[in-house]
Amino acid sequence: MKVLFLNGPNLNLLGQREPEIYGNLKLSDIEDMVRNRAAELNVEVVFFQSNHEGELVTQIQEAPNNYNYVVINAGAYTHTSIALNDAIIGAGINAIEIHLSNVHARESYRKKSMIAKACIGSINGFGSSSYILGLEACVLNKNKPND
Ligand code: DQA
Repeated sequence: MKVLFLNGPNLNLLGQREPEIYGNLKLSDIEDMVRNRAAELNVEVVFFQSNHEGELVTQIQEAPNNYNYVVINAGAYTHTSIALNDAIIGAGINAIEIHLSNVHARESYRKKSMIAKACIGSINGFGSSSYILGLEACVLNKNKPND
């Protein structure tokens, strides 16, 4: 199984960006954690981060050629991007939405996800572990009895 992890705007700043909300780990630290767990689960993982909505759209469109799942932390685009929603649906890719923070316990504009409906499910509030849980959700979803 192959999983693409997509990270949206400002997630390249993890480690320095509002650490009281997002923690002290850099994105590269989180990627290392995911790589280790993926090796245990025999899953191939690839990471892509962009601050540009269109680049994320292109990655999603191309994902079915190479990946079984996309795990996406769309950052602030989560709350605004009809384009990402349409890309997930249009590509027909299995997607899982993740967030480091509990978006429901923050500003009201973070409660709405434009991509939630297009995703299998969402995980938020577990800090860097949201990425591990996202990976595990792919494996569990793949192994569910009716697949
Ligand atoms: C985030 C939550 C978003 O609301 C925010 O814009 C981010 C990070 C998270 O991982 O908690 O950039 O997606």
